[in-house]
Amino acid sequence: MTKISKGDFLYFEPTMASIIDDITHSQDGTKDGTKTPRKRRAPTKIGGYTAVKKIGQGAMGDIWLCEDPSLCRRVVVKQMLPSLRGYEDLIARFKRECVILAALHHPNIVHPFALWQERTGKLALAMEYVDGATFRQILDVNSRPPIWVTLYLIHEILQTLICVHANQIIHRDLKPSNMMVEKNGRVRLLDFGIARDANPGQDMTLPGSVLGTAAYMSPEQVKGFTVTYASDIFSLGIIACEMVMGKNPFRGESMELTSQYILNLHLKIKNFPPEVPYNLRRWILKCLEKKPQDRFHSTKEAADALASIMDGYPRQLDIPCREWLKATMRNEPLPELPKNSKMQMFKFGLIAGAAAGALLATFITALICS
Ligand SMILES: Nc1ncnc2c1ncn2[C@@H]1O[C@H](COP(=O)(O)OP(=O)(O)O)[C@@H](O)[C@H]1O
Ligand SMILES: [Mg+2]
Repeated sequence: MTKISKGDFLYFEPTMASIIDDITHSQDGTKDGTKTPRKRRAPTKIGGYTAVKKIGQGAMGDIWLCEDPSLCRRVVVKQMLPSLRGYEDLIARFKRECVILAALHHPNIVHPFALWQERTGKLALAMEYVDGATFRQILDVNSRPPIWVTLYLIHEILQTLICVHANQIIHRDLKPSNMMVEKNGRVRLLDFGIARDANPGQDMTLPGSVLGTAAYMSPEQVKGFTVTYASDIFSLGIIACEMVMGKNPFRGESMELTSQYILNLHLKIKNFPPEVPYNLRRWILKCLEKKPQDRFHSTKEAADALASIMDGYPRQLDIPCREWLKATMRNEPLPELPKNSKMQMFKFGLIAGAAAGALLATFITALICS
């Protein structure tokens, strides 16, 4: 059994490792180390759409931004890598991503438009275009967003996961590059390429296989054990941790080191920067419990706990987030941030109390002296 990685994506499945190995090499044409890299010609048309530019590339395929001339709109087409043709398991996995997307109805999940097979045999999935930035792109510009931004983004993803889990689907690859914030502030969850059906007998993964992205994996994923809803909660805990700390503390210099950190690194309350609220630290640490049964028991429970930490912030944070995102991505001065009204009240109470105390002391001193 071989272990293959593409970027930090781990693909470690008994029958598929060699396939991915082939794909990885055939993509750049350097399997024997002598050939010069081969460039694939950019398509002008993909199905009925006009290709505009390639916006992403992953283990399974290329992501193209396209124009849909019939409806004058932009769409995204995920085109399966040509080298995957003939690999029935991977084709089935690609098709499953489309079926999962079609079954999930949530405003934060991209809507698929069509799945078809091109004349060349390649599968292609057309979906809604999300005009915005991935969490990864945002964190690359500002590694430590304000706490209210983190609370809003993580809470939105949790709301989305409640829907995903209610449909008996485990995402399994939660990471900043699979999450986007639209220009209007709405959060979107992408990439159900390795999502798993939580129903026994419906999973396409072979027992003992490891799928996911090393730096955001749960301990049970690293060990190749059964993945559950709690595994998604762990991955989300790592993302929240990265957002408040400015770096992912589980990311090592090699995949092996990262796996070791995920299995053995126990973060503590004191490891967080001082401005991170105590309750948020506790929330993150609960998501990061090594044993799945010690984490929140459901995404609903995790979302409720996070909502109580957000108590005091304005109810609607999408518009402030939109403004914050715009300023961040343009490197402009940050707009006024929403105040935590509870914290404001608390500060006001403290100041008022101190002032009243001082007045009383002056009054008593004056009384004694007279
Ligand atoms: N619907 C979409 N709208 C805009 N960008 C997208 C969309 N889908 C994917 N992308 C971009 O392409 C990248 C890779 O897409 P993803 O679905 O995660 O595929 P992969 O399986 O290759 O990781 C994303 O990180 C994002 O930048
Ligand atoms: Mg992805």
